[in-house]
Amino acid sequence: MRIKVFENKHQVEIASASIFIELIQQKPSAVLGLATGDTPIGTYREMIAAYQQGKVSYRYVRTFNLDEYVGIASDHPNSYASFMKNHLFESIDIPSEQTHIPDGQQQDLEAECIRYDELMKAVGQIDLQILGIGRNGHIGFNEPSRTLSSKTHVVALSAETRKQNAHHFSHPEQVPTQAITMGVGSILQAKTILLVAYGAGKADILKEALQGPVNTEVPASLLQLHPRVIVMMDQEAGSWYRG
Ligand code: F6R
Repeated sequence: MRIKVFENKHQVEIASASIFIELIQQKPSAVLGLATGDTPIGTYREMIAAYQQGKVSYRYVRTFNLDEYVGIASDHPNSYASFMKNHLFESIDIPSEQTHIPDGQQQDLEAECIRYDELMKAVGQIDLQILGIGRNGHIGFNEPSRTLSSKTHVVALSAETRKQNAHHFSHPEQVPTQAITMGVGSILQAKTILLVAYGAGKADILKEALQGPVNTEVPASLLQLHPRVIVMMDQEAGSWYRG
C-alpha cells in the first residue's frame, strides 16, 4: 500500500486525476471503476480539465460505477447516474454506452445485480478503481457487517450512511433506504485501487481501516489484502499517518 499525504485538497485532486490520465494515455481502452459522493468531484474536475486541454481522450474508455440508489429514477437529480453525468460524463468525450451504472429502478433487482456482474466479467478487469470511504468504513455501499458479499448485491443503507448523504436531499427522509453496490470481491479484483479522502472527519476511520485489523466490520480494512492500493489524503484526513 502506498500512502501519500498532501498539503491540501487541491494537490490530491491533481495527483489523483493524474493517475487516471496517465493510465488512459498508456491504455486508451482502460476500464475505470468510478465512485460518487463528495470525494471524487475534484478528481473528475481535473480529468475534465485534462480533456479540455487536449491531454487525454476518453473515447475508448469504459466505466463501471460502484453503486446506485434503489427506487429513484436515473434522471432524478440525486441519482448516481445524474451525478456522473453532471460531474464527468457530459463534459468529456466518452460515449454513453461505454458507461455503466447499476439500475436501481429495475423490478427484479437480483437479476439486475447478476446482469451487472456479467457485464463486468465480459468487459474484463477494472484497471483503476477510485474509492471514497464512509465514516463507518464502508466502501461502495458495503456497510459494516459480520459478513460481506463478494458480488453485486442489494444493501439496506445504515442510518449513519443515510445521515451522511442527507445533505444532498431536500429532506433527510428522502434518502433512499436501499442501494445496489458492487461487492467487496469485485472491488478487490481491480488491478489498482485509489482510495481518496479529505478532512478531519475521515481521519479516525482511515487509521482504523489501514492500520487496524482486517475486519468485515470495517469494510475498507479489506483493502489491506490488495497488492496495489494507493491512498491519497489531505493533511486533515492523514493527520494520524507517520510515514
Ligand atoms: C459512492 C460510494 C461511497 C462513498 C462514501 C464517501 O459511490 O461508493 O462509498 O465513496 O460514502 O462519501 P463522500 O465522498 O461523500 O464522503
